[in-house]
Amino acid sequence: MDDLLISNPKKLLDCAAEFGTPLYVYDGNKIVSQYKRLKDAFSGLKFRVHYACKANTNLNILRLLKNAGCELDTVSIQEIRLGLHAGFQPENIMYTPNSVNIEEIKVAVEIGVNINIDSLSILEQFGNVYGNKVPVCIRINPHVVAGGHSKIQTGHIDSKFGISYQQMRLLNRIIDQYHIDVQGVHMHNGSDIKEIDTFMEAVDVLLKVASEFKDLKYIDFGGGIKVPYKEGDVETNVEELGTKMTKKFKAFCKEYGRELELWCEPGKFLVSESGYLLTRVNIVKHTVSTVFAGVDSGLNHLIRPMMYNAYHRIVNISNPKGLPRVYSVVGNICETDTFGSDRKISEIREGDILAILNAGAYGFSMSSNYNSRFRPAEVLLMDGSAKLIRKREEMEDLLRNQVEI
Ligand code: LLP
Repeated sequence: MDDLLISNPKKLLDCAAEFGTPLYVYDGNKIVSQYKRLKDAFSGLKFRVHYACKANTNLNILRLLKNAGCELDTVSIQEIRLGLHAGFQPENIMYTPNSVNIEEIKVAVEIGVNINIDSLSILEQFGNVYGNKVPVCIRINPHVVAGGHSKIQTGHIDSKFGISYQQMRLLNRIIDQYHIDVQGVHMHNGSDIKEIDTFMEAVDVLLKVASEFKDLKYIDFGGGIKVPYKEGDVETNVEELGTKMTKKFKAFCKEYGRELELWCEPGKFLVSESGYLLTRVNIVKHTVSTVFAGVDSGLNHLIRPMMYNAYHRIVNISNPKGLPRVYSVVGNICETDTFGSDRKISEIREGDILAILNAGAYGFSMSSNYNSRFRPAEVLLMDGSAKLIRKREEMEDLLRNQVEI
């Protein structure tokens, strides 16, 4: 976890001084290098990466990835529209919604993106409207327990996602009846998937399903690649994943009789480690049991610690050489709002800037105005230069849609 922006924090401190705190800062070079690393790991295949933009939809990040050659994975019409705004072509956008009605899917068809269907009911309705005129991808649930916290596991038997691989007979009945053109099969089984074997186990199920369709163009194994959150943390070795997957996929294609494309759709892998949430320490408070460092941000800006018990490294970049002491770093929201408990951090003084790491994915995109606080500004660092890519909110933003009667 060699992090140059942390070992030499001048750039981050300059950003905090110039743009204020709380502030999201993203290292654009890191994002591009993660994309390249993934592409290289699968260089033996026709391999396409769709960035799961729910992780971070800032237009500048979308454009950065588009210019690097990446495509887009979306889950709502609004994400599709942001993608189009950033310059993606519809054919380079995958649309994987769940619990939507056919009307939303019709809008996506109209736009011309790739449609991924995750329920038999929608598939039937789709068949009624489009027959074989619009190709689809089918999202399969392989019944694999994969991912970190239970809230981010999506491929198990009790999950709402996908069509069970055990419903193949019913699935085929619907496909035959409406002559549906199935061009892809897909799965996404969870986030923070620890073991490569779990990916392989699920891929086996997906490939078995795939062998039942004769006119496929691609197979999509979803996202979920695990990034490290702390020293010594498990992380997916993408090179090993690439080697194993390439071997398996080549053997499958040989048997299938045609070379198919392999798709994937990571979010965290591409953007998590690029991001830092910079916060200023408002107060150091000693209670009978704890030393709290209270900062000018909270669960309204980064909800992962409170929502998934997620660990995010916290570094005092104002006093990196200070004597380490034990702190609980808490936010300013009026309920339990803990970024990290009992952390050893270089001595914290009021006014210091703390960097919260791994804040590039599911940080700003899951933020809110809870307690009527403004969402932070965002800055992109690219080749050493820092540019504002989202303004800090203002009172006007809180009032905009309120109707006073
Ligand atoms: N594809 C689909 C269909 C997805 O639903 C997701 C994430 C991804 C790809 C990308 O997964 P990733 O590579 O980022 O693990 N908010 C949670 C994560 C929820 C992920 C939801 N779907 C978190 O902060 O841990």
